[in-house]
Amino acid sequence: MRIDRQAEEQLFTAARTAKSFSDEPVSDAQLRAIAELVRWPPTMANSQPLRVAFIRSPRARERLIPLLTAPNRPKTASAPVAAILAVDLEFHEHIPRLYPHGAHLRDRFCADAAGGERAATFSGAMQAGYFILAARAVGLAAGPMLGFDQVAVDAEFFPDRPWKSILVVNLGRPGERPWRERLPRLDHDEFVEHH
Ligand SMILES: Cc1cc2nc3c(=O)[nH]c(=O)nc-3n(C[C@H](O)[C@H](O)[C@H](O)COP(=O)(O)O)c2cc1C
Repeated sequence: MRIDRQAEEQLFTAARTAKSFSDEPVSDAQLRAIAELVRWPPTMANSQPLRVAFIRSPRARERLIPLLTAPNRPKTASAPVAAILAVDLEFHEHIPRLYPHGAHLRDRFCADAAGGERAATFSGAMQAGYFILAARAVGLAAGPMLGFDQVAVDAEFFPDRPWKSILVVNLGRPGERPWRERLPRLDHDEFVEHH
């Protein structure tokens, strides 16, 4: 069954990328609801390489904000929560449980670290997209940002784990003047063809 127009707008056509956020808090239940939704859409060999660190305490925010590019700092400073999205470079260790009929893939990615990282980054990026849609589905605005020092974020937050950050996503309710005018999208025929 097709979802209704209001749901389409909330997920896709009316949703915007927020750059400033209100003081309205984000609850643990909302963060849990996002994580619950993100578990389900597809990943390569059901491998689910995404890892999520929610940053909310004043101390954690103090550690993250300086590692963002200067234009991105006020955005995270205004957001009640930011999520560091990362991929687990040892994601393949879970493959025998998550994809038992293709368990040999664990050994293949063990032997090919570069291929493993490519696979993790690809499925992890897809999961990051699902994460943004999940945030919108629970009624929050998301502000994804690539403008941060990835090496420094990994050293600060994941020093003892093989996790590699791929995106920071601010979460909350939109604040004052949260976005500029909507930017154009490519027309249908610019990005679609039929054969
Ligand atoms: C992978 C990715 C990286 C982005 N990086 C940044 C960023 O570093 N700083 C920023 O202000 N916006 C960033 N954005 C936001 C985009 O500029 C924004 O989503 C796009 O212009 C569409 O805006 P709209 O959703 O309001 O139409 C990023 C978005 C994505 C998906």
